[in-house]
Amino acid sequence: MNTKSIILLLIAFMYLSCSDRFYRDEDDSNKYVIGFSQCTSGDLWRQMMNSEMIRETSFYPEITLIIKDGQQNNQKQISDIEELINQGIDLLIVSPNEAEPITAVVEETYHSGIPVILIDRKIASDAYTAYIGGDNFAIGREAGNYARGLLKDKGKILEIWGLKGSSPAVERHRGFVESLEKVPGIKILDGGDGKWLGEIGEQLAEEAFENYHDIDLVYAHNDVMALGAYRAAKRRGIEKKMNFVGIDALPGEEGGIQMVLNGYLTATFLYPTGGEYAIHTALKILKNQPFKREYILETVQIDSTNARILKLQTDQILNHQAKIEAQKRILDQQLLKIETHRERFYVTLVGLGIVLIIVFFLWRSYRIIKRINKQLEEKNEAINHQKEELAAQRDQLVEMHQKLKEANELKIQFFTNISHEFRTPLTLIIGTLDQIRNPESQNDETQKKVSLMQRNAERLLRLINQLMDFRKLDDGKMHLHAHKHDIVSFLNEITQSFEILAEQKEIDFQFRSSIEKLEVWFDDEKLDKVIFNLLSNAFKFTPEGGSIVVECRLWNEDLEKAKSEMCEFVEIRVKDTGIGIPPEEIIKIFEPFYEVEHKRRTHYTGTGIGLALSKSLVELHHGEILVDSSDGQGSCFTVRLPLGNQHLIAGEMPDGDLSDAVFDHSTPLVTTPESDEPEKLAVGAGRISQATPLILIVDDNPDVVTYITSCLESQYRVDKAENGKLGLDKAIKLMPDLIISDIMMPEMDGIEFCSKLKSDLETSHIPVILLTARSSDENIVEGFETGADDYITKPFNSEILKARVHNLLESHKKLKEYFTQSLTFYSKDSSIRTIDKKFIERMIETVEKNLLNPEINVDRLGKELGLTRVHLYRKIKSLTGHSPSEFVRLIKLKKAAELMKDTELSVAEVAFKVGFETPSYFTKCFREHFQQTPTEYILNHTTTPYSN
Ligand code: FRU
Repeated sequence: MNTKSIILLLIAFMYLSCSDRFYRDEDDSNKYVIGFSQCTSGDLWRQMMNSEMIRETSFYPEITLIIKDGQQNNQKQISDIEELINQGIDLLIVSPNEAEPITAVVEETYHSGIPVILIDRKIASDAYTAYIGGDNFAIGREAGNYARGLLKDKGKILEIWGLKGSSPAVERHRGFVESLEKVPGIKILDGGDGKWLGEIGEQLAEEAFENYHDIDLVYAHNDVMALGAYRAAKRRGIEKKMNFVGIDALPGEEGGIQMVLNGYLTATFLYPTGGEYAIHTALKILKNQPFKREYILETVQIDSTNARILKLQTDQILNHQAKIEAQKRILDQQLLKIETHRERFYVTLVGLGIVLIIVFFLWRSYRIIKRINKQLEEKNEAINHQKEELAAQRDQLVEMHQKLKEANELKIQFFTNISHEFRTPLTLIIGTLDQIRNPESQNDETQKKVSLMQRNAERLLRLINQLMDFRKLDDGKMHLHAHKHDIVSFLNEITQSFEILAEQKEIDFQFRSSIEKLEVWFDDEKLDKVIFNLLSNAFKFTPEGGSIVVECRLWNEDLEKAKSEMCEFVEIRVKDTGIGIPPEEIIKIFEPFYEVEHKRRTHYTGTGIGLALSKSLVELHHGEILVDSSDGQGSCFTVRLPLGNQHLIAGEMPDGDLSDAVFDHSTPLVTTPESDEPEKLAVGAGRISQATPLILIVDDNPDVVTYITSCLESQYRVDKAENGKLGLDKAIKLMPDLIISDIMMPEMDGIEFCSKLKSDLETSHIPVILLTARSSDENIVEGFETGADDYITKPFNSEILKARVHNLLESHKKLKEYFTQSLTFYSKDSSIRTIDKKFIERMIETVEKNLLNPEINVDRLGKELGLTRVHLYRKIKSLTGHSPSEFVRLIKLKKAAELMKDTELSVAEVAFKVGFETPSYFTKCFREHFQQTPTEYILNHTTTPYSN
């Protein structure tokens, strides 16, 4: 069964559910419309007829009854009938107002095929289907017979007519006359047409009583007119003199039976309305069942003899009817409820149907989705399978790549390690060559060879350094440490170092700067490499007689701004008249390991990393490097560096404690060009004695130790230790004046060693120089954080080493002088270590507190300060150059000077106050230290006259 047929089935089911047919018997399926044209609904008798019809109809749901009131008007009744016909009635019941006027419209209806039932009154034709009503002739006759009996065949009778054109009036008259025409003693007076109405009847009787005074009986064609006559008689007081006979005998308080019981009427004749029979007959006609064409209703005479019993009976009937009607109303309400329930049931059913349709579609969609999902799952599975295969392939590739990377990494690491290893022996070779080279004997053949060896060793070293720098750049471990420097003097310094080479090669070499001084943020060590590399290249490949120019100027992309000196860059140009670079190769020269195909033609060969390294270093400065060259026309390299420090990020500039001091090289920045003669640092050779400073060298490499020793032993006393641990023991034992320590050592490395030295009060004052790997910035920073005073990067020049040692010892000496010469010890000098400053402060505080205490001696002082006598001695000696007792005396003298300056105490008082036993000894000591007597001091430092 497909979707379409399922939906059709559902719709059919719903239709049947909602259809009336589904709930009704086949017999009930016809619907009949019956039209009833009533001549008037204005009196009780007619109202009873209508009620009977309505009540009866209510038992037949298939019948619809439409009642129209003709208002006792023929014309109105005719148009009522026409309207009913137009409404499409199935049957017409009509009670004609008058026979003649209504006949035509009834005939027409009848002939049109609509069955017609006449009720109570007739038309002047036979064109009707059935008649229901009483036998009016018989009623008239019985009324005549009853009058005869009452009047005993003698008397006068007043006859009040019903509507004279209506059939009951005619027949009631005819029957009455026929019954009395053979009785000569009875005279019938024509009372006139009362039109079936009580008031007219009353009026006619009034007139008759006026004219006739001997009326014995009033015969009215209905009860309401008889009652009217009774009222007229009563008004005259003659009602007892006569009889009143009527027709209808309606039940109820207003009805004719009650009138008889009340004594108003003498008798009445039952004239049934026939409403109930009319509906019965109509249904039979409509259902094509047999029926009686003339249905004559029974009549009964009612007078004082039977009125009571009939009243009881009719009252009971009325009661029953009322009950039936009440039941009917309840039934109607129930039906209404049923109808409401049924409607709800229909709605529910329709809703259910819709739900069923939705469920069906959902179910269908679900099945479709399921099917599609299944297909997708299959496709997914296939894709997943492919993905897994691809992933496996990718994993293989990744693994291979990883292996290759590791192998490569190992190779590079091996290469780096080897390079590293080259550096120490090279340092030693260069250092040794430096020592045996005598710059004065230029002509000596051996010296020339030594120079050659040294130049080449230095070149080798530089290449290795470049390689290692490049490796660091590649690993992202090279960081910019920019400081503000005067770029002009920086360039000047570099260019100067090439002057001798220029002279030797007869090259016109110039440095030009459009500005005198310009502060630029750059990393001097790195920029030095760049400029050195550019100049080396220029010199190497510019032939004799050529020219090389280094230019420095401000630059801006925006020429207008450049003109108005709103420049954003400094531009350094290195221009040569060398062989130049072919255009097709220009773009490649900054690529690492690039070698120009025709080596003979170009000079940018060798390791192929010099320019690549320069480019990376310039870019590290957020700058750019450009080249302009043409084959055979020379080259011009331009380096542009941004001005200011806005472009620098955190970490590229010094901050906090790691201020300029960290990177403040006291050694020359410029690397010596290959053929340049290194400038000898003048260090005076002195005699070695116990006063000669003692230097402790801590390094695990005996060659390095030997080399450093050879550099220093002519001027200093030297001791050695193999690692940090042994170094620490020796430092405590010997209390050296300076320590040179390597960083990488077994047992205890240089960082830990230095940190231990600097955190121990006994050794914290000893200056320490750390030997670091050339390019390891991390080590340098770490070293300074532990408190190292300086560092020297390996490999190092012997002269640099000597200069650093000399500088440090000098500054230490100055510190000692400071402590002894200054009147205040609260120095803000950041070069004094906090730990030492605190120590001196505590010492002064202790001495000042115990000025008058003769007990205070070196032992006591040592205890107070937490040091042994020996250590206290060494510490104070090293920090101040004095023995502890000398230093205590010095504190006292300074305190004395303060007192003399700020108070008016006498010399003797001051002497005692600062703990001198005699003023003369105080004066002696004071003069020795201040080169003036206390009295002279007072005079020099006060404005008021003073007497001792
Ligand atoms: C009511 C009535 C009855 C009478 C009948 C004759 O309109 O006047 O009193 O019996 O009509 O048609």
